[in-house]
Amino acid sequence: MLDTGVGGLTVYDALRRQLPQAPVIFAADLIGMPYGKKTEAEVAARVAGLLGRMSERYRPRLACIACNTASTIALGMVREVLEIPIVGTVPAIKPAALHTNTGTFGLIGTQATIRQRYVDDLERDFARDKTLLRIAAPDLVDEAEAKLRGRTVNMAVIEEAVQRLRGMDGGGDIDAVVLACTHFPLLREELGALFGNDVALIDGAEGIARRIANLLEGQEFAPTPQNRFVVTGPVEGARGLDAALAERGFGAPESF
Ligand code: DGL
Repeated sequence: MLDTGVGGLTVYDALRRQLPQAPVIFAADLIGMPYGKKTEAEVAARVAGLLGRMSERYRPRLACIACNTASTIALGMVREVLEIPIVGTVPAIKPAALHTNTGTFGLIGTQATIRQRYVDDLERDFARDKTLLRIAAPDLVDEAEAKLRGRTVNMAVIEEAVQRLRGMDGGGDIDAVVLACTHFPLLREELGALFGNDVALIDGAEGIARRIANLLEGQEFAPTPQNRFVVTGPVEGARGLDAALAERGFGAPESF
């Protein structure tokens, strides 16, 4: 699995529930973070390079891009060049469109994700008769990273994003919000407290885990999975994550 940081762990958690026996190597591209503020060319180059390095080094049976930004930009491209199945994480527009009763729903992602053609296509295919309001909230990525490192979340940052979405034309009608960045479900509690009980917060993690479990169905795994958490750059970048990693069955972070 690949993400820039701990966001992809939300996909990992869902996978653990559905396929506890498969060993996972989770790569966090800490020196590449945030992808959301990079250009399409920069993100595509990093994702292709890192997935190539991972598949050569670890020979995985499957790879998951546990990042919406990377998936909406580079999924097609890496699928063409790598020989293993690649599962991407793309905004859960379809389930949110099915969920909304008011016909208006929101999407919060990174700047790079919300401008992708991939997202336009999902909206056209699954939400043509609905109103989808999109905002970029890159600062939530830092808050999610802080939370998993045991630091206090700055609620003002979360509140600003929620108010910005609510303040858009039709924003008051929103009854579902797509969490279109894998970091954001880590802030589900904080976002839920501000949006209120009438707004469903929808992400794709369970669906992605289901897809991975289907693709690996019938395969045998070693009796005790050895999960590894590897990072780009110095391992000190993962400082503060020990508890979050240990509770998920990872050993100490390693340099990648
Ligand atoms: N977790 C990544 C995503 O799903 C984004 C974080 C970043 O900007 O690096 O889009």
